[in-house]
Parts: sequence; structure tokens; C-alpha cells
Amino acid sequence: MNISFDLDLDRAARVELLTDVDSTNTYLKALAAKSELADGYAVVAARQTGGRGRMGRSFSSPEGGLYLSVLVYPGEELSRAATLTPCAGVAVCRAIRRVCAVQPDIKWPNDLLLQGRKLCGILTESSVSRGRRFAVIGIGVNVNTKTRSLDETVRDVAVSLAEHTGGEQDCAALAAAVIEELDKMLAEWRRDTRCCLEEYRRLCVSTDREVTLTRAGNSRRAYAVGIDEDYALIARINGQLEHITMGEITLRTGE
Ligand code: BTN
Repeated sequence: MNISFDLDLDRAARVELLTDVDSTNTYLKALAAKSELADGYAVVAARQTGGRGRMGRSFSSPEGGLYLSVLVYPGEELSRAATLTPCAGVAVCRAIRRVCAVQPDIKWPNDLLLQGRKLCGILTESSVSRGRRFAVIGIGVNVNTKTRSLDETVRDVAVSLAEHTGGEQDCAALAAAVIEELDKMLAEWRRDTRCCLEEYRRLCVSTDREVTLTRAGNSRRAYAVGIDEDYALIARINGQLEHITMGEITLRTGE
């Protein structure tokens, strides 16, 4: 079951490499529930057969992409755990910038985009085992993915790093950089969950514009004003400011 690359990393927690898995998040959650794993334990896969996305959706995960999950013990406060995903988004942007010299945008709360197309999705799931809360941060990046091999529902709105740059990218180097940047970010995050706030605000393309907010199947028009100190979206809806912590947005153009 070994992947064809090795990761050049110097860290205490193990990185497990798999060629095929249903979902790195499902795999790591099950492992963390039955054994005592080190904080930072990571799983990297070359392909997922049952990749999962936000809102119960599937996440198309063919060969060429990078699929990884990292275990974190965030403490008991749920509001702290909620800040992991935006910080992970910033860490992945740093890694992509370092390895591929490409600067993705962030679409609130946690999609990475290149020229408006989706490059990366992040799904953080939290659970409790033996009385201790743990979170699994799952990251899927279209690295050398042929977008025609993606599910037809997402093909037209997706992009890969190879397509964007016009050349094959080093998936192993990117995997190592994402894990390193996550390790660094998590060390800062333990001291201050707002460690990534200013960078997140700079990278986020969802503000100062008209958006459609969708939550639990309900859509509302809103004006996205900014990002608050807990990474929630501040939106003006019918003249009132609301701090949105859940759901997703569609960026409205040409209005
Ligand atoms: C989304 O865009 O809706 C989130 C997608 C998250 C995908 C990653 S790939 C690695 C990890 N394993 C999964 O099954 N999902 C996450």
C-alpha cells in the first residue's frame, strides 16, 4: 500500500503514506478513535475512493491530487476548534506559494481558488475519544489533476496547479511543505488562535462585495463587509450586520 514517493520531513509525529484509501479523514478518525496517536499524526494518499467534502458532499479525488489529513488535539473549547480551518487555509496557501510560486485566494470559509476556480477544499471534523476531543483537518489539492478526470459536477469550476502553471508540479514536495506549514501554524495557533487573522483577511476575496449566503438549504442575498476576529464573515443582510459562522457563499459578479 505504499505511495511512490517519500516525504523529506523532520518531525516527531508519524506521516502515513497510502496509495489508495476511501477518505484520509475517515481513516484517520477511525485510527484516532481506537489508538493513542501523537498530535500532528498525518495521513497522505494519492487517491481517495470515497473523498468527503463539506455539507455532506463527496469530494472527487482522482490520481494527480494531494489528499491529506492531520490530527490535532485542540482542547475542549469548540470555538477554538472552529478557527483551525481558516488557519489551515492560510498554511496551505503558504505551502503552495513556496513550492509552486502561485498565490491562491481564499473564499470564505475555506476554499482556495485560482482565478475564481476551486483549487483546494478543506474539511475539519471534530470528535471525542476516551474523553479527549480531537480534530482531523482534511485537505484536498488539485495538483497534477486532469480536471476532466474530476466528477462532472465540479469539472467546470475546478482548476489544478499543473493546468494553471502549464507544468507538472512536485506533489511530494508540496505534501511535505503543507505538513511543515501546518506544523508551524499550529504551534502559533496554540498560543493565539488569531495568529493567521491578518493574512487570512488579505487573502480572502469574499469581502467588500455582493454574495449569496447559503445555510441549511436557505439562500439569502448579502453584502460581505469583512472578517471578524473569530474568522466569521460579517455580512449586511436587510440593513443589519450579522456574524456568519456556518454555511457557504457564492460570489456574485456583474451586479
Ligand atoms: C470541500 O471542499 O467541501 C472540502 C473538501 C475536503 C477534501 C479533503 S481530501 C482529504 C480529506 N479527506 C476527505 O475525505 N476529505 C478531505
